Amino acid sequence: MTSKQINPPPANTDAAAHVTGKSVYVDDIPVMEGALWVKVLDARVAHGVIKRLDIRAAEQMEGVVKIFTYCDIPGENQVGGIIPDEPLLADHEVHFQGQPIALIAAETEDQAAAALEKIILEIEPLPVITDPREAFRQGKLLSPSRTFSKGNTAEAFSRCAHIFEGKTETGGQEHLYLETQGAYAIATEHNSVRIYSSTQGPTAVQRTVARVLGVGMNQVEVDVTRLGGGFGGKEDQASTWGAFAALVAHVLKRPAKCIPHRMEDMRMTGKRNPYSSDFKIGLDADCRIIAYEATFYQNGGAAADLSPAILERTLFHAANSYAIPHVHVTAHSCKTNLPPNTAFRGFGGPQGKFVIEAAIDCAAKNLGVHAALIQRKNLLDDGYEFHYGQIAVGAEAKNSWNTLEQKQPFAAVMADVEAFNTTHAWQKKGAAWMPICFGISFTNTMMNHARALVHVYSDGSVGVSTGAVEMGQGVNMKMIQVAAACLGVSWDRIKLETTNTTRVANTSPSAASATADLNGKALTDACNQIRARLDALVKSLFGADEKAAVTLRDNRVYLNGQDTDLNWNQLIQQAFIQRVNLSAKGHYATPQIHFDKSTGKGHPFAYHVYGTALTVCTVDCLRGIYTIDLVDVVHDFGTSINRHIDLGQCEGGIVQGIGWMTMEEVVYNAEGRLLSNALSTYKIPDIYSVPAVLDIQFLDTEGSDLAIFKSKAVGEPPLMYGIGAFFALRNAVLAFNPASNIAYSAPMTPEKVLMGLHG
Ligand code: MTE
Ligand code: HPA
Ligand code: MOS
Repeated sequence: MTSKQINPPPANTDAAAHVTGKSVYVDDIPVMEGALWVKVLDARVAHGVIKRLDIRAAEQMEGVVKIFTYCDIPGENQVGGIIPDEPLLADHEVHFQGQPIALIAAETEDQAAAALEKIILEIEPLPVITDPREAFRQGKLLSPSRTFSKGNTAEAFSRCAHIFEGKTETGGQEHLYLETQGAYAIATEHNSVRIYSSTQGPTAVQRTVARVLGVGMNQVEVDVTRLGGGFGGKEDQASTWGAFAALVAHVLKRPAKCIPHRMEDMRMTGKRNPYSSDFKIGLDADCRIIAYEATFYQNGGAAADLSPAILERTLFHAANSYAIPHVHVTAHSCKTNLPPNTAFRGFGGPQGKFVIEAAIDCAAKNLGVHAALIQRKNLLDDGYEFHYGQIAVGAEAKNSWNTLEQKQPFAAVMADVEAFNTTHAWQKKGAAWMPICFGISFTNTMMNHARALVHVYSDGSVGVSTGAVEMGQGVNMKMIQVAAACLGVSWDRIKLETTNTTRVANTSPSAASATADLNGKALTDACNQIRARLDALVKSLFGADEKAAVTLRDNRVYLNGQDTDLNWNQLIQQAFIQRVNLSAKGHYATPQIHFDKSTGKGHPFAYHVYGTALTVCTVDCLRGIYTIDLVDVVHDFGTSINRHIDLGQCEGGIVQGIGWMTMEEVVYNAEGRLLSNALSTYKIPDIYSVPAVLDIQFLDTEGSDLAIFKSKAVGEPPLMYGIGAFFALRNAVLAFNPASNIAYSAPMTPEKVLMGLHG
């Protein structure tokens, strides 16, 4: 613990309830009498025309109250967030396996499931596309293609000593939040509805439900206690489940609960967008990157969802931490017959970074050097102009690399790897370095704002509401720390309320790693308003003049540095008696940021987060299995306000990134059916696959004024260290078989390793 942490708490406010099973998730909320279960009939054909939908027999089943089709939607049959291209319930066509067609509302879950079997559904199949390049060839795009450009790559390539071209693939990723999607809705008076939702975006659910029901947003209240994980999967896609429950509750005026089982969730929801990409990289004789071009084919699935925004972030992060004078990157959002893919930790950034890392690795292999030498030589510095026009400030790319170099010198690491490899015929080690640079802010400037509501009650206890959603990332604890620091009270005086649209309105989803920054700054604003009123009261109570300094600390009141005999509770009592307003609403909108989509230039990010990781792995060359021996990281946290939480985010992100790059393989067959549809066929990292050594060093930097208390955002950036695992494994394979034709195709599953070793 350092003194920089504000009010360091003994533990996360949620920890005790989590480990004792007391924490409340949607399915734990006691339902009211008369509550109905909602089950979803989804398409088992990826593309086709609905020829027959006969619900008559199903409607006669015991316990069935009503079966809903698109005809029963009172408002608009539309859930598309960015582009209105996604019906809540299919009307005449289906576009992916798992697409919702009908809802069964029954007295019990079993009755709803039995009725589902009785629905007669006939779909005439149409051709299915699952490959983004094929979709592109057929002109099937979800949104207009985008290009970001700086300098003149065509001209620059003519001056390069070395040019390399290649192709890469990155796979999807299942969010696998422990709590599946879900919502519980209650009809309330004035034709309104209250929804308890597992969502990162309460306002998104509210907006979508209002649209579907054809009511005002003021008739829809969304309440979120916490999520058993979201990872981006509940940024937009939770709205569908909220709408299912709300539709039933609203039409039937009975409480309704809709929670898919794991396999239903897996086949019906979208995942991380897979990408297929082409790169061209040009270097001078001194290994300086002069020009970089890439074309990204994003597999968007059957509807736009968040893919257009994800596509944009891919372009922002296409050059990772490298200073490159000429950059030209283009991205296509391709429409396929898969469930609409969506936000996933990193939001397109990881997909973009993988490609430039592959390009650098390709250049290194051809030039006979380790990729780290090219990476190190090209790291960006303060004053660098990113290809989107922003100037780098507080760049820690070199600092983090050099700090790691002191701990893990390149020469020593490689000497160890080579020594091991010469003495082991059937095991090989590989090492890879992975620098990261990740921009903090929603890339859509208008989303970067937040609000908070603070009540100090007459007994001195404090209730805090913000737009932040707790999903395991610890934002509630951070909000408690912020309020405690601003008000000068101990953290146990503060209660974080649920996230509720009637208390805090028009929120952006908790996403883009910016939740603590945005909501924390809004919270600071609210607390400071109350502070100003209390400070004035203190001065009047003690007859002090205007310029006197009031300090609130440790539940006590100080005047000009002297302890008064007033404590916090007494001060609040006085304030209450004197009719001082003890509530405040705070607002924050990130200053300085702007971006012109037409030119692809601007200053989209409040700041950037940097760091460097070294990954070392060992491959069993007989069986293709492997272990990640070491991930050693130097990460730029700024001045962390909560090292426990930030370390946990870093560790979790890295392991999730390694999972994406190594073992997590989302597989659809040619008919668009999800084959990796359960935990038996979709492998995520467990405690045994976590790196044997996972060491994270805090690069204690100044931080940024735009970060909450200069504590930099941490939710997503560390995931991208996981990309190092792919290249470490690839290097180990090549140590065994230098002629291997192993592709830049992630995930690097043991099967791919085995074929690479012997192919
Ligand atoms: N950590 C946990 N435990 N659970 C989650 O769902 N989501 C990640 C990250 N860390 C997530 C998590 C994603 S995708 C984002 S954008 C951030 O947390 C969101 O929270 P933040 O903005 O407070 O960092
Ligand atoms: N990051 C995460 N989620 C988002 C973004 C972003 O930049 N833009 C819209 N939703
Ligand atoms: Mo995170 S992918 O921005 O929810």
